[in-house]
Amino acid sequence: MMQTDKIHIEKNSVQETLIVPLYGRKMCAEKYPDLYTDTSAKMLCERLDHDFSALEARKDRFFYEFGALEAAMRQLDIMWEIEDYLRSRPNAVIVDLGCGLDQTGRACDNGTCKIVNIDLPDIIAVREQLLPAGERGKNIACDLKDHKWMNEVDGTEGALFFAAGVFHYFKAEDVKELVLALAKRYKGGRLIFDTVGKQGLKLMMSKTLKTMGIQDIEGLFYVNHPAKDMGWSEDLKVSSRGYMLGYHDMKNKGIRSLHRLLARIGDNWFKMAVHRIEF
Ligand SMILES: C[S@@+](CC[C@H](N)C(=O)[O-])C[C@H]1O[C@@H](n2cnc3c(N)ncnc32)[C@H](O)[C@@H]1O
Repeated sequence: MMQTDKIHIEKNSVQETLIVPLYGRKMCAEKYPDLYTDTSAKMLCERLDHDFSALEARKDRFFYEFGALEAAMRQLDIMWEIEDYLRSRPNAVIVDLGCGLDQTGRACDNGTCKIVNIDLPDIIAVREQLLPAGERGKNIACDLKDHKWMNEVDGTEGALFFAAGVFHYFKAEDVKELVLALAKRYKGGRLIFDTVGKQGLKLMMSKTLKTMGIQDIEGLFYVNHPAKDMGWSEDLKVSSRGYMLGYHDMKNKGIRSLHRLLARIGDNWFKMAVHRIEF
C-alpha cells in the first residue's frame, strides 16, 4: 500500500501538544545538523493530517528558532541520561512516558535494552501505524495516572523512565503519586523529566493551556526549588541540571550567541530544568 493516507490527531487536545516538539525536532535537524540529527521527524510530520503552515511561516523567526532548540536540547539531555544508565544496566527497560511520536528510546538502542512507549490510546493508535514497536519494544495505550500500566513493565534488569514535556499538564499531586508508585516498584530505577518554574509555566504554557480550555496554572506541576518541591520521600535522590545548558554548551554551528543568552535566561530565570530521581 502506498503511504499517502494522512493520519489525524485530535485538535485542541493534550494529545495535539506532541506536534510542537515533533516539528521543533524536524526544524532543528534541518537548521542545526551540527547539534542535532533526527531521522524520522520529517517523515512523521509529512504523514500527519495537520496544517503546519503557521509553524512553517514563522520558522526563521528568532523565538521560533529558540523553540525548536528547546525541543532538541530536551531530547539531547534525555539521551545523555539514558546512555548513562545503560552503561551500568545494558538490559534495562527504557520507558517513554507520554511518548507522542518521539523516538528517543530508539535513538539510544544499544541492541539489548527493551523500549516501552506509553501514551493515551489515540496517540498509541497513530504510533502503531507510523512507528510500530520493534522486537524488544512495546507500545502501551493508557492514561499514565492509572498506574495499572506498571503491570506491563518488567524492570527486573533495571528501568529508566523519562517524560519529555509531559508533566506540565499534570497536577502536582498526580506527579507525586506517580513518582512514589515508581519508587516503590522499581528499586534501582530512575526517572528523568523536564519542568519549568511557576513564571516559566505561565509564560510558556499560556497559549497551549488556553487552547486546551485550561484557565490557569494553579495546581499544575512546576518546580521552583527542586529539593523542597520534590521532597516527597527520604528514599528519593533528586538531582537537577539546566535544561538548555546543563548538559551541552550549545556552541554549535548556526546557533547564535543571542540564543545562548536566552538559554541562560530560560535556565536561570524561568527555571527550565531536567531532573533525575533515583529510586
Ligand atoms: C508535549 S507532548 C510530548 C510528546 C513527546 N514526549 C515528545 O517529546 O515529543 C505531551 C504528550 O503527553 C501525552 N500525555 C499527556 N497526558 C497524558 C496522560 N495522562 N497519559 C498518557 N499520556 C499523556 C500526550 O498525549 C502527548 O503525546
